[in-house]
Amino acid sequence: MDHEKINLGTDVRINPMVIGLIGSQVNGKANFITVGQVYRLNMKPAYIGTSIHPTHYTAGGISEHRVFSVNIPHCGMAAVTDYCGVVSGKKHDKSDLFELFYGELGEAAPMIVECPMCFECRLVDTVEMPSNTLYVGEVVASYSEERFIKDGHPDVQAMNPLLYTATDRKYWSIGSYVAKAYQVGVGYR
Ligand SMILES: Cc1cc2nc3c(=O)[nH]c(=O)nc-3n(C[C@H](O)[C@H](O)[C@H](O)COP(=O)(O)O)c2cc1C
Repeated sequence: MDHEKINLGTDVRINPMVIGLIGSQVNGKANFITVGQVYRLNMKPAYIGTSIHPTHYTAGGISEHRVFSVNIPHCGMAAVTDYCGVVSGKKHDKSDLFELFYGELGEAAPMIVECPMCFECRLVDTVEMPSNTLYVGEVVASYSEERFIKDGHPDVQAMNPLLYTATDRKYWSIGSYVAKAYQVGVGYR
């Protein structure tokens, strides 16, 4: 097999990304932004980071209320998720796109009933980077449903999260199970 590497430059991503809908409250209304840049940053306490352009409407809401939510949409939500990523709350009211629920942090961290997994986060740090702002949130609670839990763990096949590849701008679903982590490699050598 030919393994000759080619340099693809710097505008590449670690693909695929799990898509998130970040919920915030801006000017008294729920607003949702689609992000590919959402990651687990720390184990204990559990931190999630999301990297958002400072001009987005969402930025004002997170900075003001210092809370936000991370909602993981399923593949059947591709169109509404894409909509949240192509229109801004500055001009379009996105508060009625979903059925909402609230947790410990109240209305400033609105969560989406239709999403199989939702995280409620309290802002613990804001890092200004050259083009984006990294919002670091401590997870105070996470929410799912019995039908998405298997053997005590979130069942990713039932959740069917929407995945994304950034440079070609495409949405995907997950493939099939490969092997058990922390086990398959144990006797490798
Ligand atoms: C698939 C997809 C992924 C996106 N990822 C990000 C992201 O990681 N960070 C970001 O700032 N904007 C991202 N965007 C763009 C915002 O979602 C978009 O500008 C949105 O309209 C901003 O909404 P707001 O002004 O209501 O906050 C993405 C858009 C799409 C469609």
